Amino acid sequence: MERLQKRIASLGYCSRRKAEELIKEGKVFVNGKLVIELGFKVEDKDQIMIDGIVLEEEQKVYYLLNKPRGVVSTTSDEKGRKTIVSLIDTDIRIFPIGRLDYDTTGLIILTNDGELSNLLMHPKNNIEKTYIAKINGKLLPNELMSLKKGVVIDNIKTKKSKVKIKNYDKNTDTSIIEITITEGRNHQVKKMFERVNHKVLKLKREKYAFLTLEGLSSKDYRTLTIKEVQKLYNLAKNGK
Ligand code: URA
Repeated sequence: MERLQKRIASLGYCSRRKAEELIKEGKVFVNGKLVIELGFKVEDKDQIMIDGIVLEEEQKVYYLLNKPRGVVSTTSDEKGRKTIVSLIDTDIRIFPIGRLDYDTTGLIILTNDGELSNLLMHPKNNIEKTYIAKINGKLLPNELMSLKKGVVIDNIKTKKSKVKIKNYDKNTDTSIIEITITEGRNHQVKKMFERVNHKVLKLKREKYAFLTLEGLSSKDYRTLTIKEVQKLYNLAKNGK
């Protein structure tokens, strides 16, 4: 027996959080009966139907995409903007693990594995994400230290991060900074730099845990290997 929202996510329909919303909105039927209770338990043999679709066990798929600029990392967009899902040639309903902003480029995983998505997104997991940020101005030693130790954004201090100055260009008065964070808060990197009075002009995610963009140009994607998926599960379950 497992909770309905967990079962919906593990069937690959959507994330567990989204499943909770659907249940509360009265869109989920189990064996033909409407269920709006979040703690409801189901067995594998129970039939779950959402918006007229009976959920079936489907093969899990995993893609690593080099996201270009100008694409939203949601499965649909109310403003009709291009979504990352449309960049992947598949009929399977996939969704991104976490988000990158519309103007952020780089590494993002897309899957129909709700369980892995939940495990990786759980705050306790400390999965390292490395970004290259182009910022205005020169990062001063005290600002660098603040970023490393944690700065307060949206009233909560960020966890420790790793920060390296890669380059400073006198002519344009801009710097290239590598920053590795373990959380995934909304616009986190941009807000962290804002806090120390620098604007992020460009942002790219180059690494997610042990995964890199090696061999992938912008818009390119590849599937993850079984070994990589197992490694992600191990990381997510046992911590970094
Ligand atoms: N931090 C941001 O500010 N934006 C992203 O897209 C990712 C991390």
